Amino acid sequence: MVQPAQSPEPPEDHVIVLSGATGDLARRKLLPGLFHLARAGLMPQRYRIVGTAPAAEALTDQEFRAHARQAVAEFGRSRPEGPDWETFAAALSFGAADTGAADPLTAAVSAAEAALGGKPRRLFHLAVPPVAFTSMIDLLGATGLAAGGRVIVEKPFGTDLASARALNATIHRVFDESRVFRIDHFLGKEAVDNVLALRFANGLFEPLWNREHISHVQIDVPEHIDIQGRARFFEGTGTFRDMVVTHLFQLLGFVAMEPPVALEADALRDEQVKVFHSMRVLDPAHVVRGQYTGYRDEQGVDPASDTETFVALRVEIDNWRWAGVPFHLRTGKALAEGRHVVTLGLREPVLRMFPLDVRAAVDGRSNELVIDFDDPGSVTARLLMKEPGPSMQLAEADMVFNYGTSFAAQNSLEGYEHLLLEAMRGNQSLFTRSDGVERLWEVAAPLLDAPPPVDSYAPGSWGPGAIEALVAPYRWHLPERRAASS
Ligand code: BG6
Repeated sequence: MVQPAQSPEPPEDHVIVLSGATGDLARRKLLPGLFHLARAGLMPQRYRIVGTAPAAEALTDQEFRAHARQAVAEFGRSRPEGPDWETFAAALSFGAADTGAADPLTAAVSAAEAALGGKPRRLFHLAVPPVAFTSMIDLLGATGLAAGGRVIVEKPFGTDLASARALNATIHRVFDESRVFRIDHFLGKEAVDNVLALRFANGLFEPLWNREHISHVQIDVPEHIDIQGRARFFEGTGTFRDMVVTHLFQLLGFVAMEPPVALEADALRDEQVKVFHSMRVLDPAHVVRGQYTGYRDEQGVDPASDTETFVALRVEIDNWRWAGVPFHLRTGKALAEGRHVVTLGLREPVLRMFPLDVRAAVDGRSNELVIDFDDPGSVTARLLMKEPGPSMQLAEADMVFNYGTSFAAQNSLEGYEHLLLEAMRGNQSLFTRSDGVERLWEVAAPLLDAPPPVDSYAPGSWGPGAIEALVAPYRWHLPERRAASS
């Protein structure tokens, strides 16, 4: 499936049409990401990137190149200079498009194709807000630009089941599912592929990866940042829709899936969607919604806002592998740390032969497998070992695999870079499928219909106090050293 990032096989020649080229995502992630791929020698041999936006925001080719240069300088990993930059900049052009007035775009795409010669593949990246989505898809259909092309679709994939279905129907009017790449940048993180490697390429872990040996699972993505002025977006969305129904549920799909018959797109996504179908619909009684103190004072936020900036919940998976094993998910803004951690808690062995105070000594968290998704990430097996000395005293010890010190991390790609490359390769393995997305909204429906009230929490904390009861009798893995930090 996911070929190595440094695979020598470049994607076929491409004309990439970046819709929303003047927007925030293009500036922060897409333009810097495409330039990084070019510098790493991972772009197609011949390619052009055509930026597009409504005529009111139109740029000339020169202005678009200057815009891209600024974006790469500000957010890129490599500086926009030298021959690499000159080549990349020369591949950029711009063509505005509005409903019924798309000539500049069609002309720019034709010019780009003529410059490349042959039959380059078209790839449309729709980095546009939901309100602009339908009209852009219709425009691509009406102008014939969509023919044979692929489309990358940004989240949110709807806001509930009905809107997700409507969105999928809109897309399918113009692009069949085999040409649709719904992007969730969490699935582009190295550690997601590494979960597959860890589980299915080793004899060590997979035999333990089930209810017989695992008592609970945590998927914990606290964020240290607050809403960073995105009040308008956030008020209409909230953390559950922004993070859980997207990123955290997708991670859950990879952690919980059965071994796929092959590491290729359909087999992987079939297994992921099976997990989603095995999920019980959410019980609002097992959900803690939180809002950080001060959120209501942010500019653009309703002073009586009920929008959650935090959510923790229990998910249950009713299948033979996971029945009875709670999956606890947590994420939120303005928390103590920014982390991406999956923890599998192993069932306790019989500890009677060891001194009675062993439980206190290890804080009740003896054996855990901890997968850290931060860049560059790590996998830690937390064990109990004997402390050196004359008595049989146990202590926690870690067996750690660290990306940073184990591999040449400079070969790694960021989430967006990895996914843009896979979309150019036509590999859908790490992109979500319409049936999976719709099922997740079905799972979410009871919570959306009857959300519990928000609890406030202090910025810099780990969330409202009620989250402890949610995971009892277990404890949150984070913060890592509870005893030391409390
Ligand atoms: C985005 C959300 O999809 O993911 C943001 O809209 C969030 O609210 C971000 O901050 C987190 O991504 P990462 O990779 O920085 O953890």
